[in-house]
Amino acid sequence: MSHLTAAAISRYLPADSPWSLDVRECVESTNTLMKATSQELPTGAVLIADRQTAGRGRMTRAFFSPPRCGLYISMLLRPQVSAAEGLLFTPAAAVAAAEAIEEVCGISVGIKWVNDLMLNGRKVGGILTESTLTEEGKIASVIVGIGINVYPPREGYPSELEGIAASLFADTSGEDIRPHLCAALLTRCADLMLPLPEGRFLGEYRRRSLVLGRCVTLLPGGEQVVVEEIDDACRLIVRDGAGTLRTVFSGECSLRADFRP
Ligand code: BTN
Repeated sequence: MSHLTAAAISRYLPADSPWSLDVRECVESTNTLMKATSQELPTGAVLIADRQTAGRGRMTRAFFSPPRCGLYISMLLRPQVSAAEGLLFTPAAAVAAAEAIEEVCGISVGIKWVNDLMLNGRKVGGILTESTLTEEGKIASVIVGIGINVYPPREGYPSELEGIAASLFADTSGEDIRPHLCAALLTRCADLMLPLPEGRFLGEYRRRSLVLGRCVTLLPGGEQVVVEEIDDACRLIVRDGAGTLRTVFSGECSLRADFRP
């Protein structure tokens, strides 16, 4: 039986929390299930699972989600924001997750543009945001999915994730911290995502950025650039090999000096 129950999480939530929780033992993917049922769900609905059998990441990747190890959460919102502002949900959620981890676990994680939560060079979490648009091009609904590797899987990570993924803690001894971490995450998400266009998260996003001021490899493509700035739309302003400043809207970065595409 998982310790991750609605009652255990709610103990740590403020009385005026805007979220309504649905906690499951096992789902295919919280984002997929929420997408399928979103018509019947109100804004502020949250789906949490102890385990996912087909957790999804960005770029059609899988997100390994074994039982009793992590937080797998999807939040549904129907915000009054433009499609451009909607792109800020991912970085805002990354900051919310980083701040919740620091507050509850005392661990400082960095953010690798745009959505990777990193600890000692390995990925401990990520964000998958999926939205639908109105005919006028505004956001109709958005599902913000957050996955955090809290404890290591008993059998270790699959070989394809070795050296790439890690968990916040090295073992599972002690009280299960996930209900507390989950509540802190939801509270930070409410603080940062509900007033999204104010950009409250931007300073912290830049402070935790692992790419700002660094030479990185842009993916896909493999071009090496220096990241000069992260603008208020959370795009990268990079200087390329010819010395020209360019704006990067999408894709991802590799920090590995030896990376060859
Ligand atoms: C990434 O790192 O590329 C994003 C990972 C997002 C994983 C979370 S876990 C909860 C939600 N449900 C999913 O299937 N994916 C997201």
